Amino acid sequence: MLERYENLYDRTKPYSRFKDISVSERILNTVFLLTIGLGYLMALANMYYTHQGLDGKAGLSVDDVVISYHGGNNQTRLGTAINGIMKSNLRYADDKDVILQWIKQGAEETGYDEKIAPILNRDCILCHTPSINPSLPDLTHYATVSQVAHAGGVTLPTLVRVSHIHLFGIAFILFFIGKIFLLCDMNVYVKRVAVVIPFAAMLLDILSWFITKEISSFAYVVIFSGALMGLSMGLQILLSIYQMWFFSRK
Ligand code: HEC
Repeated sequence: MLERYENLYDRTKPYSRFKDISVSERILNTVFLLTIGLGYLMALANMYYTHQGLDGKAGLSVDDVVISYHGGNNQTRLGTAINGIMKSNLRYADDKDVILQWIKQGAEETGYDEKIAPILNRDCILCHTPSINPSLPDLTHYATVSQVAHAGGVTLPTLVRVSHIHLFGIAFILFFIGKIFLLCDMNVYVKRVAVVIPFAAMLLDILSWFITKEISSFAYVVIFSGALMGLSMGLQILLSIYQMWFFSRK
């Protein structure tokens, strides 16, 4: 018993490194890492397609991230309706631009009574009054108009759902990548820090989704931490594959 404990603290035996594992294990590690790498590239492409162009411009930008999480002035229910199926209810076509301009400037309460209420009262509330059509958006006063004039961004239940999938899924991926990476031959202090970075970056990324929902400037933290996670994970994969096959220090 005592002997076993002593063995546990016996540091004269080196930890295993890539040179200590069999070729079949290297092959298994390599196909795993390559598959994860491909999966990550697909995740990037998926992210591009879901978020790009939300701000009306092609390509992915900080504004797209802000709109996804925080919401924006494009794609409000009022804006979409007035540009589409509800346009014909306007008596004067110019009023469409008045409403769209107001939405674009943030759909604030100031100016609502003078500019917006008269249009809605004349053209819309004959249908959009709760006592007439309880299922339609109420356009009789600012508070309810405001709800359809702002786009809310992502909802809390959606964020919670996406977060728990990411936390469970990515934790597994990072754990196995880290386990393989630990077989690299390098400074142990660098290694101890390196295995923590992708986990920390993922946690910061997910935390900043929630903050960006409230504070739009946190979109920069979302992008930074997402990039840091990808980079640190990618480096672990590349270094592991390199050391496994092309590097040997005896
Ligand atoms: C003749 C009745 C009528 C008038 C007038 C009318 N609407 Fe509507 N509105 C509807 C109906 C019915 C729907 C539901 C349509 C649907 O869900 O397909 C609707 C839906 C909407 C919606 C919600 C769309 C969504 O996202 O579900 C908005 C916003 C809207 N109308 C705005 C307006 C505005 C602004 C005006 C005035 C310019 C207006 N409506 C005038 C009947 C009307």
